[in-house]
Amino acid sequence: MIIAVDGPSGSGKSSTARGVANRLGLRYLDTGATYRAVTWSAVERGLDLDDTAAVAQRARELVLEISTDPDDQFVIADGTDITAAIREPRISEVVSKIATNLDVRKELIRRQRAIIDKAQTDGGIVVEGRDIATVVATDAELKVLLTADQEARMARRGAELAAGSVTAAELRDQIVRRDADDSTVSEFQVASDGAVTIDSTDLTLEEVVDVISRLATETVPRS
Ligand code: DC
Repeated sequence: MIIAVDGPSGSGKSSTARGVANRLGLRYLDTGATYRAVTWSAVERGLDLDDTAAVAQRARELVLEISTDPDDQFVIADGTDITAAIREPRISEVVSKIATNLDVRKELIRRQRAIIDKAQTDGGIVVEGRDIATVVATDAELKVLLTADQEARMARRGAELAAGSVTAAELRDQIVRRDADDSTVSEFQVASDGAVTIDSTDLTLEEVVDVISRLATETVPRS
């Protein structure tokens, strides 16, 4: 079984998708991490991120290992463990440039599909991203579009605020800018046929995991 969880940054989709995978004993794929890994590699090599051909070439050459264990997430690129590095602000700030490179997308979608196919033999996978239901896995048995209003998404990034690394105004700017950057690829965050939209603004993580797990069990009854 494939469960697609799409949504904007801060919608809680990572914790949700991991929670559902855990609950149902499925694998888990964070497709955003694949875009972050290519970004890390391009930055590390000092590539001009506007040179779309060079960045796409890097995407094709990169040796990428990405964990699908919801309890043990890691990303290894060309032998280097970049699990933490891909979350650094220097990567988050430029990743949408790489994610809007259509040749990079083509390569990463191919790799994501291979990971999903392999996980099918392990019982299934929860895949989170922006274009999972619309492009990567249009045959997913359950498609969820997770939304949350801007204030809730800001609150979920409250740890960064509390740590004093950003101000509330900066955080709001970042969220608005990332939404705008991400929306430049047309398939993003569009409800696909048969997708269930869940607004998580007033729900706890546990409640969202409950709803999705129940829907999954109803969609594919367990024997
Ligand atoms: O979910 P995230 O913040 O880790 O995503 C990182 C970037 O990758 C962000 O710019 C959105 C983009 N992305 C994408 O284009 N397609 C996906 N399936 C997942 C993420």
